Amino acid sequence: MRSISKEVNLKGKKILLRLDLNVPLDNGKINDTSRIDKILPTLNFLINQKTKIIILSHVGRPKGKIVKELSLKPISEDLKKKINVGIRLIEENINEIKNKDFFNKFDEKILILENIRFYPEEEKNDQNFAEHLASLGDIYVNEAFSCSHRSHASIDQISKFLPSFSGLQLDLEVRALNKITTEISKPITCIIGGSKISTKINIIKNLITKFDNIVIVGAMANNFIEYFGNKIGKSIKENQSKPIIEEILFLSQNESCNLIFPEDVIVAKNFNDLPVVKELKNISSEDMILDIGPNTIKNIYKVIDDSNTILWNGPAGYFENPNFANGSIEIAKKIIERNVANKIYSVVGGGDTVSLINSLDAVNNFNFVSTAGGAFLEYLEGKKLPGITALNSHD
Ligand code: 3PG
Repeated sequence: MRSISKEVNLKGKKILLRLDLNVPLDNGKINDTSRIDKILPTLNFLINQKTKIIILSHVGRPKGKIVKELSLKPISEDLKKKINVGIRLIEENINEIKNKDFFNKFDEKILILENIRFYPEEEKNDQNFAEHLASLGDIYVNEAFSCSHRSHASIDQISKFLPSFSGLQLDLEVRALNKITTEISKPITCIIGGSKISTKINIIKNLITKFDNIVIVGAMANNFIEYFGNKIGKSIKENQSKPIIEEILFLSQNESCNLIFPEDVIVAKNFNDLPVVKELKNISSEDMILDIGPNTIKNIYKVIDDSNTILWNGPAGYFENPNFANGSIEIAKKIIERNVANKIYSVVGGGDTVSLINSLDAVNNFNFVSTAGGAFLEYLEGKKLPGITALNSHD
């Protein structure tokens, strides 16, 4: 993998820079800018090298269609305030942009192409689309570690058509995760939560062999709660998860990995309702599970106290609403307490988890904070990430 930081002949080059600007948006307002702030050094580095930059990024999951609410506009506005050179959002259809000379039409040094997932070709890893994207620049840089587990055109195929490099932040993430996997101190615990169940449920199976404890919280836990014979009402869940749950339970016994599930939860009738603590057996068909309950928090405290290394990915509840943030905040506080006392090595990953930690102003109280969620877990599993493989195979 060649790092762009080591390249000397960049002057005047047009860089296609894949970023992950997938930040939480609420009615056009950015709730957490961590992913934007982390790539500022890369942009400044490329600006100092006198390059021109075309940013490629997605936000959300528009599924190949134009979704106005998922425009990169608010993100480009935020970047404009943070970077000293002109930035322009290009709303033109990418397929109609003819070649790299299109840059000459603009005074700005940085162009941002509109949400790359508005194009169905992106998620299909379409070769023609990737080749067309590549025709707009001279060099490709992957600075999106958090998307590198996706085999998408702007992550994977594109590197076939241009000299390809890793970005500064991607280098840091890979170095830190390599350190964790080689210098790990046991007992090691993984806390997995969040709402991207389909992305993560299969990953749990592969983590079982590597961890002493896996704590399953957030929407991820709903499937297990239901599997154990409880109602989960209107809560989010993954369909047809029974076989994978059975495999997870079987493997955890064989590998002596302790699985910890919620034993009580916080429910509400809707996202704006008041929180109510319930034991699992009392959840009704009208309820939505939105956080973990007090007994579950106590169980998690004990697991954290008994661990030397902890990895945390995904909040324990719908933390965006303070009524349902307590479980996630208590997990964070407990890890911080042990970290500050030098009793635990802690790594946190995932957009939402990082956003929660930012809201507690606690980024410096963890050993490593990764902006990646799914990619972070897949890397820990030992899987080859398509985005990283692509960079390695076209060196
Ligand atoms: C993330 O937020 O983990 C990345 O941006 C990837 O998003 P995705 O899970 O929608 O592919």
